[in-house]
Amino acid sequence: MNWRGPRVANENNSVMHSWCVQSQWQAPTVVGGHGAYLELEDGRRILDMSSLAECSNLGHQHPDVIKAICQQAQQLCFVTSSWGAQPRAELAEALLEKAGFEGGRVFFTLAGADANENAVKFARQASGKPRGHVIARDRSYHGASYACMALSGDARTRPQVDAEAFGVLHVAPPYAYQGAYGSHDPEECGERAVAAVAQMIDQHGVESVAAVLMEPNAGTNGIVAPTNYWPGLREETRSRGVCLIADEVMSGFGRCGEWFAWQRYGDAGKPDLMTLAKGLTGAHIPLGAVVLSADIAERLQHEMLYTGLTYCGHPLSCAAGLAALRAYEKEDLIARSRILGGWMLAELQALQERHAVIGDVRGGHGLFAVLELVVDRTTREPLAPWPQTPPALRALIDAAMEAGVSFACRGNLLLLAPPLVIQDHALTDALLLLDRLLTQFFPTAA
Ligand SMILES: Cc1ncc(COP(=O)(O)O)c(C=O)c1O
Repeated sequence: MNWRGPRVANENNSVMHSWCVQSQWQAPTVVGGHGAYLELEDGRRILDMSSLAECSNLGHQHPDVIKAICQQAQQLCFVTSSWGAQPRAELAEALLEKAGFEGGRVFFTLAGADANENAVKFARQASGKPRGHVIARDRSYHGASYACMALSGDARTRPQVDAEAFGVLHVAPPYAYQGAYGSHDPEECGERAVAAVAQMIDQHGVESVAAVLMEPNAGTNGIVAPTNYWPGLREETRSRGVCLIADEVMSGFGRCGEWFAWQRYGDAGKPDLMTLAKGLTGAHIPLGAVVLSADIAERLQHEMLYTGLTYCGHPLSCAAGLAALRAYEKEDLIARSRILGGWMLAELQALQERHAVIGDVRGGHGLFAVLELVVDRTTREPLAPWPQTPPALRALIDAAMEAGVSFACRGNLLLLAPPLVIQDHALTDALLLLDRLLTQFFPTAA
C-alpha cells in the first residue's frame, strides 16, 4: 500500500517497517474494520481488494472469531507448547478432517515462514536425508526468514542468502504466458516443467533429494500453474520416494476455490505435507501449521523432534483458528469464493478486451486473479522488468486508494484477492473503478 493522504499518528519516527525504504514509508493508519472494509483514522472507509496481505479471507473483525478469542482469553491465555491445550487438539482434528489426512498430525507454528522451515525439517527427518536437497521454484515466495529466503526464488532477497548452503535447488516455474520451457501452451509448458523437476531429482540422485516444495496453484508471483503441473509433480515425486510439500500459506482456506488448492485434483494431488497460515485464523491472530500425512507422521512417531518455538500452538491462536474454520463452513465461503472467483475472472477478461495494456488474465479458481500488464500484447514485453513496478501502475493504485479502494500490485501485476465475504455489489463497484482507472492511466484501447 502506498498512500499519500493525511495522517495523524506518526509511526515513521519510531517504527521500523517491513518491505520498504524507511525514509519513504507512507501508509494510512487503520483504526477498525468490518467485512471487506477498513476504517482509517481520518474517518474514511476503504474497500480491501487484497485482503491486506492475501490473509483476511474472512473479512475484518469477524465477530465469531473475536468472540472465540475473548472467551479463550478469559479461560486460559497460554500454556507451553509441550503441554496440552484443548483448542489446539480440536483445531488439529478439524484440519486433518478438512484435508482428508486421516491418521496424520498437525504441528503448529507462528506463521507461514516457520511452517515451511518445519515442513522441510520433517521431510528431511522422515526420509532419513537430514541434509537432503529441497527443490523449489524461481520467482517463488515462501517467507522472509533466512531458510525461507533460501527456499524462495525471489530476486529481491537472493543476494542476502546462499540457497545452495541451505540445500535448496531452484527450477524454472511453469510460466506459460512468458514462454517458459519454450512453450506458450499451458499443457505443454506444464508437462515440460514437471519433467524438469523429475530430471533435477534424477540428476542429483533420489538418495540426496528430500523434498519438492511448491505452491499448488498460485502465489503472489502471479504465476498460475497449468492444470497438469501439480498432479504431474505428485506422480514424479511419489514414484521416486521424494516428499511433496504444498505451500498453501496463501492458496489455502478458499483463496483458490477449495479448502486447500491441491484438493482440486483429489487424491492425484495429495501432498505428503502441507503448510498453512494466513487464512487459518483469517489473520485475526498469527498462526501457522504443518499438516503431515499419516505416513510421514508414522515415520516420525518414535523420533526425537528438535524443533518448536515458545508460542507454537498458542491457545488464543488455536481458538481463533477453530472459530475461523467454523465461519468458513457456516457461511459456505469456500463455495462462495469459487463462484465469485469465476465471475470475477469473466469480468476481468471483459476488461482485457477493452484495455490493450492487459496482456493476460489468470487465476479465478477462487477469489484470486492476476492481470499482467504489458507494453505490447504481441511481444508480451512486461510494462517494467520484473520485479519493478511501472510508475503508471503505482499511480493507478494511489488513485484507487483516493477513491476508496485498495488494490495490490507486484511488479507489473495487479493482484485481486478480496475477502471471501465481499458483497457482490462492492466487487462490481471495484471492477468498475478499475475499468475507469485503466482508461485514465493506460489510455490505449485494445
Ligand atoms: C506462499 C507463501 N508462503 C509463505 C509465506 C510466508 O508467510 P508469513 O509471512 O506468515 O511468514 C507467504 C507470505 O506471503 C506466502 O505467500
